[in-house]
Amino acid sequence: MIIDIVGAGALGLLYGGKLLMAGNQVRFWTRTTAQADLLAQEGVTIVERDGEMHILPDQIQAKPISEFADTWKNTPGEWVLLMVKQTGIDDFIRAISPLQDHMLNIACFQNGMGHMEKLQTALPKSLLCSAITTEGAKREQGRVTRAGAGETRLGRYNIHIVDSTFIEEKGTSTLAGSLEQAGFDCTVSNEIDKLIYRKLLINAVINPLTALWRIPNGELLITEERKRLMRQLYDEVWLVYSERGICLDLDMWDQLVSVCRSTATNTSSMLADVLAGRGTEVGSINGHIVRMARELGLAAPTHEILIQLIEGMQPEGVN
Ligand code: PAF
Repeated sequence: MIIDIVGAGALGLLYGGKLLMAGNQVRFWTRTTAQADLLAQEGVTIVERDGEMHILPDQIQAKPISEFADTWKNTPGEWVLLMVKQTGIDDFIRAISPLQDHMLNIACFQNGMGHMEKLQTALPKSLLCSAITTEGAKREQGRVTRAGAGETRLGRYNIHIVDSTFIEEKGTSTLAGSLEQAGFDCTVSNEIDKLIYRKLLINAVINPLTALWRIPNGELLITEERKRLMRQLYDEVWLVYSERGICLDLDMWDQLVSVCRSTATNTSSMLADVLAGRGTEVGSINGHIVRMARELGLAAPTHEILIQLIEGMQPEGVN
């Protein structure tokens, strides 16, 4: 199967590298030519608990995203794994605009919300699927270290309309099968909306606080003051979700606390962005909660303040 990995960060290289080693033809797409050249010169080493996997330079196909549309028209791939952050979605949309009349299969791995609608408008004929993952990885130059085996759940994006539902479902399970074969715990979920809202809540609490306090996820739990603010953010989301009829598990607070524990040493993705001086996903995470609240005539004041605090740090970040 030809699989296009858009975004060669830690997770992109982890998924792409393992899919390649499992016998798929993988094409990596980077933002710049220099990034593609470096990847193709150095190769990648994937480090897991039970050993290392070396992907040699001559096994790597890497190109800048500006060449994606022409390459895909000549040799279409079966699946695109879109692994850029929310902040990279507009660049991707610009790059694939010549493909608006084609049908691509795209699995979207972003945190936050709002990107699926944008992508569907830009690529009306394409099949989109949401991917929710608890995989984590760290990248240091050419070495990508897997944090431990997580879970990946795929689900069809439900606004999409194509005549044959059967073909769509089959397509998503084909990708799930390839990911399983490559060593990921991946299944198709019929509860993907619930998983998306669960992840949104987790990100809306953990990410901005860790980014502001510059702490790993586990340190959110070490003082009562920190936990109180987490709870305040959580309660605002819970109210919005209840009014919208979004039902999560009743022990969701405990689940949130256990995510902090199981990812205790992680640098959250928002903290990583702030430290690197990059734009963050706060607008698609906490911003989405605020927009949902407003639509219902409610407010999410703590989320609003956090958005301003995080956005006030950009663009130069913190070091
Ligand atoms: O965005 C992140 O960093 C992750 O989704 C999570 C779950 C907060 C763990 O770091």
